Amino acid sequence: MSHPETEHGQKRVLIAVGGGIAAYKTCELVSRLFQTGIEVRVILTRSAQEFITPLTLATLSRHPAYTDDLFWQPVHSRPLHIELGEWADLLVIAPLTANTLAKLAWGMADNLLTNTVLASTCPVLLAPAMNTDMWEQLTVQRNWQQLLLDSRYHGMSTASGLLACDRIGAGRMAEPPEILAHIQSLLHTKGQRDLVGKQVLISTGGTQEYLDPVRFIGNPATGKMGLALAQAALHRGANVTLVHGPASWDAPLGVQAIPVINAEEMQQVMVEYFPKADVIVMSAAVADVKPKNYSPDKLPKRSLPENLPLEPVPDIVAQLGRLKQPHQCLIGFAAQTGNIVKPAWEKLQSKKLDAIVANPIDQANSGFGSDNNQAVFLDHQGRQAEVPPCSKLQMAHHLYDFVSF
Ligand code: C5P
Repeated sequence: MSHPETEHGQKRVLIAVGGGIAAYKTCELVSRLFQTGIEVRVILTRSAQEFITPLTLATLSRHPAYTDDLFWQPVHSRPLHIELGEWADLLVIAPLTANTLAKLAWGMADNLLTNTVLASTCPVLLAPAMNTDMWEQLTVQRNWQQLLLDSRYHGMSTASGLLACDRIGAGRMAEPPEILAHIQSLLHTKGQRDLVGKQVLISTGGTQEYLDPVRFIGNPATGKMGLALAQAALHRGANVTLVHGPASWDAPLGVQAIPVINAEEMQQVMVEYFPKADVIVMSAAVADVKPKNYSPDKLPKRSLPENLPLEPVPDIVAQLGRLKQPHQCLIGFAAQTGNIVKPAWEKLQSKKLDAIVANPIDQANSGFGSDNNQAVFLDHQGRQAEVPPCSKLQMAHHLYDFVSF
């Protein structure tokens, strides 16, 4: 298993499974990681094996899983915990139990998992899972806070909901797609948290401008780009507020999500939260116009006008550009067809933006609704960077790398 860091191109993630019922979700996580092209190895604690088997995880990761039985056998050329610790680009503990948390908080090492943590220096992502009363114990919360003081550890929030003990409350492990996104972020940033202490305000999705209770002017935006921007900012340590039009996804745990319907509501929220924000990303596809008149009752078909009178909605980002203070960084989006750079550059200047993302919406596998995107970034100093097709999460990280705060 010799592997100087420079030799490997494929990312390596070591998953450590603690003994909790949420371990069944870790199987899906391992499967998704493998499908994403990430090399994955798995450690199970003794109690994790009461819930799922090494065979399950070995099959999903395409590699034998590691247990304490292997750890204590002198069959390895070098100690297993050292080998695994050096191998990993990232260690993920999912589920993190109260017991393992306590050991880590106190620097203890009595099994393969805890020894590997102490014998490695890579970032560690923690996905706790336990019963609400256990999670809320003062001792557990104290251990959690103590562990997170070390910037090596990245803690995921727990979700509230129905627990396996039939209680409804906090303590559910984050879902596999959310853990996967956090893993991808940490592989990109190598655990750097350049947005700690920053307030990031993001708008996303399309607005809907209603003519009556059932008909509206809108666009196909789904808000996935803003969702990715929120995840990337959160994973880089920011406090994130996500103002979004109607969406089919749940906002990430730990992000303040504010749903809105139309441009005026979005304007109101953005202007309210703007003064406290350090970074503002306006990725929403705001409907440019709205029907001039609104009918509170559904209009009968025969009453629909042949020519619908329209009026403009407020240009939110232009207003924010006028309010902007020198310490604030305002980023806009320009969804374009054809030549994307020239109109984006004009928008950057006319709306007083610090940077803009020129986004082709006439290319396959990018733009509205897609999980992927491609773009050209421009900034007010005239810098330009082309980002070839990649996932929206990668695009979000490239944007934060491009902009200086
Ligand atoms: O002019 P255009 O709509 O192409 O500009 C795009 C940028 O302006 C995006 O950042 C979008 O969120 C923002 N915008 C806005 N208010 C509008 C229209 C667009 O803030 N009414």
